[in-house]
Amino acid sequence: RPSTGVGSGALTFKPIPPNKLDTLVVPNGYDHAVVIKWGDPVLPGAPEFNLHHQTAAAQSKQFGYNNDFVGVLPLDKQGRRALLVVNHEYTNEDLMFPGFPGLDGLSVEQLRTAMAAHGMSVVELERVAGTGQWKPVDKGPRPYNRRVTALSTKFDLTGPAAGSAWLKTAADPKGRTVVGTLNNCAGGVTPWGTVLSGEENFNQYFVGADAAPAELKPKLDRYGISTASRYPSGSRKWERADERFDLTKHPNEAHRFGWVVEIDPFDPESRPRKHTAMGRFKHEGANVIVAKDGHVVAYMGDDERFDYLYKFVSDKKFMKGNSWAARKHNLTLLESGTLYVAKLDQTSAAEIDGSGKLPTDGAFNGRGRWIKLVSGNRSFVDGMTAADVLTFTRLAGDKVGATKMDRPEDVEPSLLTGKVYVALTNNTNRGVGSNPKADEANPRTANKHGQILELVEDRNDNASETFAWSLPIVCGDPTDPSTFFAGYDKSKVSPISCPDNVAFDATGNLWISTDGNALGSNDGLFATAVEGPERGHLKQFLTVPLGAETCGPFITGDNRSVFVAVQHPGEITGASVENPASNWPDGDYAKPGVVVTWRLDGGPVGS
Ligand code: FEO
Ligand code: CA
Ligand code: CA
Ligand code: CA
Repeated sequence: RPSTGVGSGALTFKPIPPNKLDTLVVPNGYDHAVVIKWGDPVLPGAPEFNLHHQTAAAQSKQFGYNNDFVGVLPLDKQGRRALLVVNHEYTNEDLMFPGFPGLDGLSVEQLRTAMAAHGMSVVELERVAGTGQWKPVDKGPRPYNRRVTALSTKFDLTGPAAGSAWLKTAADPKGRTVVGTLNNCAGGVTPWGTVLSGEENFNQYFVGADAAPAELKPKLDRYGISTASRYPSGSRKWERADERFDLTKHPNEAHRFGWVVEIDPFDPESRPRKHTAMGRFKHEGANVIVAKDGHVVAYMGDDERFDYLYKFVSDKKFMKGNSWAARKHNLTLLESGTLYVAKLDQTSAAEIDGSGKLPTDGAFNGRGRWIKLVSGNRSFVDGMTAADVLTFTRLAGDKVGATKMDRPEDVEPSLLTGKVYVALTNNTNRGVGSNPKADEANPRTANKHGQILELVEDRNDNASETFAWSLPIVCGDPTDPSTFFAGYDKSKVSPISCPDNVAFDATGNLWISTDGNALGSNDGLFATAVEGPERGHLKQFLTVPLGAETCGPFITGDNRSVFVAVQHPGEITGASVENPASNWPDGDYAKPGVVVTWRLDGGPVGS
């Protein structure tokens, strides 16, 4: 079937059925391979992985745990070399350490190993000639290879909140330098060749909030840092290895996480930065597009039930080209700008009853506007300074009445159309008890399966302050009447649940990966056209092994390779190194890893 234009390229692969296999499944005509996995060498001198003798020093040179975001940045014009940039969101100590004694029983060295397994990796890849397969370069110099960790990597704070009283600590009295990054979930590749990474659930690393001053407690609680007890359940015990995670001793340390991180993988000596101008919340990720007038726009989600969608518009304009001057300029674009939060108005609010039934106008849709929170050093929120708004952005969103969404995960503009796609993963509390009721953008009570939101900025200008929105996909089993697939014949679409990450292929098709499939089968990766007659024809492209979520995904610019991160394989209650719930990928204990998939005949993926 011929392509009929941008975003409507025919996806001709035969969808794979839902399954519960402990393996990675791809369509007929495709192959796949593990590119790199937990413990593989990244830096020169990395020791061979030793399950029974893990150290922070070794892990700091090896590929980290729980790979999430994946970016692949070309190193040459021939498509032979590339840089793989990956987030390591968190650790499953019970699946990492043999004889796991509980977090309280881990040695300080083991806790420091877990800290080193967090962060990011940069790995030089080479293509297996004539295919879509990629492998780490394992000979000769690899000057770009890098590990960023929670343990020791230094970050500069930029923007209006840098140096503010909220960010000063005993170790950093100027409030401008942070050690480490935490819980890096999704991210994005910028038009100037850097990578953005979202610090998400940083709350779980801190204890001692019970001792905080009364006026600070509501701020900590709003970010999920429990003030009810000294050692909240679920905390990671890192204060045993580094006292800065104890807020009774270092009360501002938690404010130094929850930012968007920017790393320049082409400059291995460069210090990564945390951009305060982009606000502080449980950042899932950030994806950038250059607006018509040259300002750059970053779209972002705060992954929490009833939290918000945001966008940032830079003060300065993007400079084209690869000159040293352009590069230096573009590296400053995210340091100053305007931060907005989304308010979604509804066209059929009165008809929404929480059942997922389409309103009589045939669509979940409406108009919306971006509410300005802060611009440079100027706050637009009553009673909050710019530094307050940027450091406690959730509270600013509350004050201006932003729309409470069903867990906004990845938010990504199509670079071909400028339209923006949001994965709203689920919200089992929607409309339950005293929680906010279903609305047109979040139309189901106790929403188990999530939905995809499409946002079209007015005049197709990504810097616009007003937009139109609709839900092209309301997820679930297509036989469930509360699902919607852009009006496409539901007998022909794949079941999907809990969308998390989104990406685009070179023809503009939307790819969606899932986390926490509430239909009972394994998580996976799906693709659909978003324009033309095939819009809504969603098909499952791969599934990941037992207990894993599907992260990434990333489709290379030549459309020949699909990368996914297999995160937390075997993460099932009661599993351990000795008694793994998944044997992926080596047949023994489970290891997170990055996978590449390609078409055996060398053709474009998906089609
Ligand atoms: Fe780390 Fe919101 O997923
Ligand atoms: Ca995610
Ligand atoms: Ca994405
Ligand atoms: Ca998720």
